[in-house]
Amino acid sequence: MDTSLIARSLELVAERGDPVPHVYARLFAQHPQMEKLFVRDTSGGVRGNMLTEALSAMLEFAGGDRYGGNLMRAEIVNHENLGVPREVFAVFYTTIRDTFAELLGAAWTNDIDAAWRDLLVRIDAALAR
Ligand code: HEM
Repeated sequence: MDTSLIARSLELVAERGDPVPHVYARLFAQHPQMEKLFVRDTSGGVRGNMLTEALSAMLEFAGGDRYGGNLMRAEIVNHENLGVPREVFAVFYTTIRDTFAELLGAAWTNDIDAAWRDLLVRIDAALAR
């Protein structure tokens, strides 16, 4: 998998502004029961941090996985305690991919799409471990 294509897609998304509201709008449209779990996040800061942390774990995972996969697996347990079922936890990376593809439109190229598809398969396998 081409990690530089993943990184490039993140740069292109960042150039288009803050993706946080878009990612969570998609997540809550598909999993409405998750929105109320963010009740303590009155400023939106937790949502933003969560996306940042999820992306940095993902990039580390993609670029060698010294700790990214372990961090994600540890967060599964933390999130189960928050009320996030593990199968919902796992959809977050797909939600990110779908949101970014939508935000980039024509700039979401076939090779970027292939790199993400490959990465999501690997993340699913790592989370199931
Ligand atoms: C659909 C899946 C997910 C849902 C519904 C979800 C939900 C939540 C909620 C409700 C909180 C706030 C907890 C609180 O009030 O203290 C939170 C925090 C957090 N989540 Fe998730 N989460 C998901 C996926 C992920 C993933 C994949 C990661 C990646 C590692 C992650 C990392 C974090 C981190 C680091 C925080 C703490 C942020 C902070 O307090 O600043 N989450 N999550």
